Amino acid sequence: MPGTNTFEDVKATIVQTRCVSSDVSIITLDCPSIAATAKPGNFVNVKVNSSTQPLLRRPFSIHNVQGNLIEIMVKSIGCGTALFCESQEGSTVMVLGPLGNCFTIPDHDFKTALLVSGGIGTAPMLFLEKTLAAQGIKVINLIGGRTKEDLLAQNLSNCRFATDDGSLGFKGTVVDLLRNELPDIENDGTLKLFACGPNPMLKALANFCNERHIACDVSLESVMGCGIGICYGCSVEINTPNGGVRTILLCREGAVIDAKLLVV
Ligand SMILES: Cc1cc2nc3c(=O)[nH]c(=O)nc-3n(C[C@H](O)[C@H](O)[C@H](O)COP(=O)(O)OP(=O)(O)OC[C@H]3O[C@@H](n4cnc5c(N)ncnc54)[C@H](O)[C@@H]3O)c2cc1C
Ligand code: FES
Repeated sequence: MPGTNTFEDVKATIVQTRCVSSDVSIITLDCPSIAATAKPGNFVNVKVNSSTQPLLRRPFSIHNVQGNLIEIMVKSIGCGTALFCESQEGSTVMVLGPLGNCFTIPDHDFKTALLVSGGIGTAPMLFLEKTLAAQGIKVINLIGGRTKEDLLAQNLSNCRFATDDGSLGFKGTVVDLLRNELPDIENDGTLKLFACGPNPMLKALANFCNERHIACDVSLESVMGCGIGICYGCSVEINTPNGGVRTILLCREGAVIDAKLLVV
């Protein structure tokens, strides 16, 4: 599904920067126009400072929306994310958004949403959970990480955890946890899964869901430049319904795709 054409480039004030772990911060930005139109699964492309280093913007999921404010959960992994996490409250950044498409929330016959995330892939889940809960849909979060330090469950409800090293919750991957929990969860009614995380996790999850005919949306990541379909930096291959593959620009036709379309 193509993304929105109605995005804006706004100068946003950083209202708050809050560390939630050794390398993850939640950054609150004042951008009323983006907050007003954002949907779960959308992302923003942020020029993290006013210099040419880094030259390109960096894409981030919208973690939460509260009134005129949006929150971004940022994991520091390189130059751009480190600079963004170190931003001073009161400073400004250019924010382009909301970009991309959104998670598809079925409008009937849908009682339980399973939000499956790994690492910083948990970032879009709070906004999604709040939107689903407002529609009376039961939400269960399955959250995975290598160790308990990688689990990012801030403000999420009904969370079940998996860690590779067993330091918290189920010992194994979040897909193993899903396999373990699914028989009980399926009794709760019609299901849909929504997922974001590292590509190997998403591929394993897509295989799992496709074999069982469970509806699942996955939010992918790729390197991005412009975020609006100009630079062709974000092309990825997806399956077509007739068994072929085609190339999409993830910033326009993603970042959310049906798990059946993921090339595994
Ligand atoms: C649609 C979308 C939504 C995203 N949402 C979030 C989010 O909510 N929070 C968040 O923290 N990050 C998110 N990311 C990832 C984030 O954009 C990258 O971490 C960031 O661009 C890295 O910039 P950098 O300058 O810090 O790292 P760089 O200096 O550019 O790179 C440092 C290292 O990280 C690798 N790298 C760069 N980008 C990625 C990536 N996307 N995935 C894995 N490795 C990468 C590079 O290859 C390099 O090895 C998202 C990405 C996309 C495409
Ligand atoms: S990021 Fe430029 S075309 Fe998608």
